[in-house]
Amino acid sequence: MPTVAFSAVELRARSGRKWHRYADDVLPAWIAEMDFGVAEPVERAMRRLTDEASYGYEGSTLYPALAEAFATHMQERFGWQPSTEHVVPVADLVQALFTLVSAFTQRGQGVMLHTPIYPPFLDAVRQTGRGVVEHRLSDDGRRFALDGASVRDVLNQDVPLLLLCNPHNPTGRVFERDELEAIAAAAIEHDAIVVADEVHADLTYTGHRHIPLASLGPEIAARTVTITSATKAYNFPGLRCGLMSFGSSDLRERFRAAIPDRMLGIVTRFGIEATITAWRDCGGWFDEVMAQLHANRERVARFFASELRTIGFHAPEATYLAWLDCSGLQLPGGPYEFFLEQARVALNDGADFGPPGRGHVRLNFATSAPILDEILERMARAVHHL
Ligand SMILES: Cc1ncc(COP(=O)(O)O)c(C=O)c1O
Repeated sequence: MPTVAFSAVELRARSGRKWHRYADDVLPAWIAEMDFGVAEPVERAMRRLTDEASYGYEGSTLYPALAEAFATHMQERFGWQPSTEHVVPVADLVQALFTLVSAFTQRGQGVMLHTPIYPPFLDAVRQTGRGVVEHRLSDDGRRFALDGASVRDVLNQDVPLLLLCNPHNPTGRVFERDELEAIAAAAIEHDAIVVADEVHADLTYTGHRHIPLASLGPEIAARTVTITSATKAYNFPGLRCGLMSFGSSDLRERFRAAIPDRMLGIVTRFGIEATITAWRDCGGWFDEVMAQLHANRERVARFFASELRTIGFHAPEATYLAWLDCSGLQLPGGPYEFFLEQARVALNDGADFGPPGRGHVRLNFATSAPILDEILERMARAVHHL
């Protein structure tokens, strides 16, 4: 395997939450990071910075280069040309979500999101005193569908903001043009703003196509803030570098008026250089990662189709996350606790992803084949002992 995939012993010897939150006999398949190290050019860039002892103030002198790298990457991958003018770096995307919700809504107003959803989306709404307005994805037996027609029934003057997650965490859906067009039409009709978290876009599998919401046309672009980073696809979430791309100067100014730039902090040189290097020089490494993820996804699909048929599963169209419907297991408690206690496998608890997540768990399959096999076999043994 060309990609560096560490053994369980090596992974435990390193620092980081993924391998240290649980006891040593537990295999972690939870938080969204990969057990694959980083690309050699990123490693070299980080080594150079430490060799130079580049620990001084950087300020925002590297921000224009980051914006350029972002625009070039979007153009190359998705044929979308965002402006470099309204790009605002931010340490992490959860910070972006919190500040955007605060800037574009008032306390007491509602924010629409598609549940089940990555839990910080819910936190960003609730913890800022706004109300969660759910628009549920529905399992049509083949995948999780977004009912575009009903989006317009949910948005209104008391729900002026929609948080879109595309590709969608946890279901792995890559929304199609008609679904996105329905969202765009509803946002325009109701004068709503859309925050489009597209951080998983690079991780789209062959056969599916990621379409940036803001690429649909100037009217929707002008009311969209796209947030993304290189940290998921290139595997350095600890380096803290993401960005918000505002689709118009008006949106950018409204945000600045609510959240002065210094409230965002300043992104580190390490994070920026890793990001620019990833987007510019690491395409070969990334292709190898996608080949490995594709093989893992097939492995997971085969396993659930043959060994664990009581668990509902649709292969994700993007991401290395598998959303597992365990309601058919008829467990006395929740599936997260069951697999942790009986299989010694740590997954994410579906209940944290909003009401439709109950009875579900999320499995991260971005690991080496032997570790993934062990995770799946442990889960199957626990289920067969029921
Ligand atoms: C959709 C989505 N947004 C944001 C994040 C978190 O990004 P950050 O580490 O930059 O806060 C994740 C992490 O899994 C994610 O899946």
